[in-house]
Amino acid sequence: MTPFAKVERVPGDPILGLMEAFRADPRPGKLDLGVGVYRDAEGRTPIPRAVKLAEQRLVDGEPTKAYVGGHGDARFGELMSRLVLGDSPLPGAGRVGLTQTPGGTGALRLAGDFIARCLPGRRLWLSDPTWPIHETLFPAAGVPVGHYPYVGADNRLDVPGLLAALERIPSGDVVLLHACCHNPTGFDLSPAHWQQVLEVVRARELLPLFDLAYQGFGDGLAQDACAVRLFAEALPAMLVTLSCSKNFGLYRERTGALMVIAEDASRLAAVRSQLASMARNLWSTPPSHGAAVVAEVLGDDALRRLWEEELDGMRRRIVTLRQGLIEALRPHGLDARFAHIAEQRGMFSYTGLTADQVLRLRAEDGVYLLETGRANVAGLDAERLGSLAAAIARVARL
Ligand code: LMR
Repeated sequence: MTPFAKVERVPGDPILGLMEAFRADPRPGKLDLGVGVYRDAEGRTPIPRAVKLAEQRLVDGEPTKAYVGGHGDARFGELMSRLVLGDSPLPGAGRVGLTQTPGGTGALRLAGDFIARCLPGRRLWLSDPTWPIHETLFPAAGVPVGHYPYVGADNRLDVPGLLAALERIPSGDVVLLHACCHNPTGFDLSPAHWQQVLEVVRARELLPLFDLAYQGFGDGLAQDACAVRLFAEALPAMLVTLSCSKNFGLYRERTGALMVIAEDASRLAAVRSQLASMARNLWSTPPSHGAAVVAEVLGDDALRRLWEEELDGMRRRIVTLRQGLIEALRPHGLDARFAHIAEQRGMFSYTGLTADQVLRLRAEDGVYLLETGRANVAGLDAERLGSLAAAIARVARL
């Protein structure tokens, strides 16, 4: 028998698989609302000008390609800590450490390995629904997962269900919270809801693991970090995974970080020693380019201003597209049924379309959504909202 004779074929990733199917579709009018990438009015995923300018500086001035250390670029770490935590005293108190990772997914995997090795017996609790990779990545790292409700059968946020479920989670377990722009639903908790979640997390002595992958895409850079800042101030310890894919447009550069907040500098040093040792086994040292670009942008007043303007432009475009889609659905009498699209935040919308309706849109109109009904609103074409609304009306009529 040959060595691979018994290797079984497994299904492909639902999000990346849809991206491939879209690319292979020859229809000229096709529309990709699948994978979460931002698109501009021309349908391109742009490289922000601030990023291009920073890259140009690096091409001319980067002194070496020698390895960065196990935790990555220290300047990137400091600037990203500030971006997330604002003027919090925690970094100055030696309680915050960043480990640079290959993308936000790398940060999640590192967090998974850390939980499995250093917090044995703890379960990780995920929102139902959550990003599909959360469901597979943590078990692959050896962390058992459970679920808390997030949206009800009416496709609306279920805060009482969420709070009641958190109350039942065994003390000491880890709870994954989407800091903003919940993926896949787009439904975010209000500041008052976050306060309620914090009370339960504190009372149950749970460890929060925030996934912050869309800072700047919801209500603004500071507003999108408000839950992380609230919890950081109130709790002795937590983990935060960061991604620069979306807000810096650095998708393929795989730029992210795992941020640790510990009760004091000596606990932080112990945790960081573990992370460095685990990262060495996973990817040795992180890729440098994306983090060097981010540090260049955040560390330079003019580039930072330009980047913030560009990010704000992306955020505003998504809000306009959400409202535009509802307006386009109005003549079909569907504006009230889809009004939640304007309440959601960030790239994604749980539209409420069923798998059958999604498959009809794909087959009949070349419109690609995930079968869960998740649409990447940032992929909408403002010029074609009318035809999309007509297609939705055709498949969504009861
Ligand atoms: C998504 O959910 O579409 C994005 O986070 C991209 C990805 O890697 O899945």
